[in-house]
Amino acid sequence: MAVYFDRLIDKICHFYYRARGFDLEPINTSELPKLLNPSTNSGYTDLYRAISLLKTYTGKSIIDVGCGKGAALLVFSRWPFENIHGIEHSIKPYQALLKNLKILGDNRIFASHGDALRFKDYRSYDYIYLYNPFPNRALLEEFIEVLLSDRKKKLTVIYNNPKWGQAFSSKNFHHIKTIKNKWGTGINIYQLSF
Ligand SMILES: C[S@@+](CC[C@H](N)C(=O)[O-])C[C@H]1O[C@@H](n2cnc3c(N)ncnc32)[C@H](O)[C@@H]1O
Repeated sequence: MAVYFDRLIDKICHFYYRARGFDLEPINTSELPKLLNPSTNSGYTDLYRAISLLKTYTGKSIIDVGCGKGAALLVFSRWPFENIHGIEHSIKPYQALLKNLKILGDNRIFASHGDALRFKDYRSYDYIYLYNPFPNRALLEEFIEVLLSDRKKKLTVIYNNPKWGQAFSSKNFHHIKTIKNKWGTGINIYQLSF
């Protein structure tokens, strides 16, 4: 019943955003370079529940690694984060993302186009969100190394559908919680303290 209700709410959100002119349709896989992991967006209800568990928002920054067209950024914008950032490698979703952000008109949200593995400023973020942008564990491990390099403050990772959650655990991230989602895959929260 709860799953049915969540799906219904997700559909309503989707239609609501569509009516406002947002493009949050699934990414056409043929438009993506081979190594990128395409697929749909995070949805709203499950992610909403996960984000509502984070204790502090004011003065905090969050980044969606592989943000697609920005559906998760819309969810983040419901909380008083200081900065919200999405990085997307693929040009077509990135173009849709820019249009979506223009409609939203929230000046805390910033989008950048590029490879998340080459991004150099993760140290500025308190929360890292990812929904399997990488097609294999080796690339996720490479990403974790980038995250850890030069890190000096506490870090919280929100990993939706944690296919390779073990990659975080093996690098001393503590698994804090799993939020159930409608797909049965869960959303894991990990923390790394210094
Ligand atoms: C499963 S979608 C998730 C979209 C979004 N995070 C959401 O939850 O709505 C994964 C996205 O990661 C992007 N991606 C894959 N590899 C990437 C990389 N190395 N750097 C940045 N983005 C990447 C893909 O183009 C795709 O848009």
